[in-house]
Amino acid sequence: MKPTKAGQTVDLEPLRRVLEERFRPRDYREAQELVVGACQEAQRLFGWVPPEAAQLIAEHLGVTTNRIYGLLTFYADFRTEPPGRHFLWICHGAACYVAGAGRLVEFLHERYGITGQGTTPDGALTVHVFNGCLGVCDLAPVAQLDHHEYVGLLSLERLQALIAELQGEAQTEAADGSTE
Ligand code: FES
Repeated sequence: MKPTKAGQTVDLEPLRRVLEERFRPRDYREAQELVVGACQEAQRLFGWVPPEAAQLIAEHLGVTTNRIYGLLTFYADFRTEPPGRHFLWICHGAACYVAGAGRLVEFLHERYGITGQGTTPDGALTVHVFNGCLGVCDLAPVAQLDHHEYVGLLSLERLQALIAELQGEAQTEAADGSTE
């Protein structure tokens, strides 16, 4: 296994097997067409596309890593950094904006350098600012945690407390994992 830039280790063997079994282009043109699918496989396996996986895909398909990264940055669904242990949508739709979501978004930028989307430096939390409507405007401003739990009437203090709680959990989980 190789260490990634993020300090995690990535076992490339499952991806290598998938590439050898299912991604066998007959020519360069077909190889170009297979790049997106191969990156999707990497993301399915790892939860993101680590640099080593991008390199492996490039070598396997005979394309440049620039081509791989061009696609990874073009499609918003691809992640080029590992996801945090928790995931939070911050709604920035009209009702939430009027109710003060802008201050929450500003805080995320000022405190963590997150603009639009990003992960806290400790890896506890990945945040995406959602410029749409989460469909629960009566709870505005609202966030959605781990794709199922709504946290409504979200003041700045409540957001800070939530993040602190998630970071504490992540530290405990990491400590438990390191002693197993
Ligand atoms: S605008 Fe945020 S839930 Fe509707």
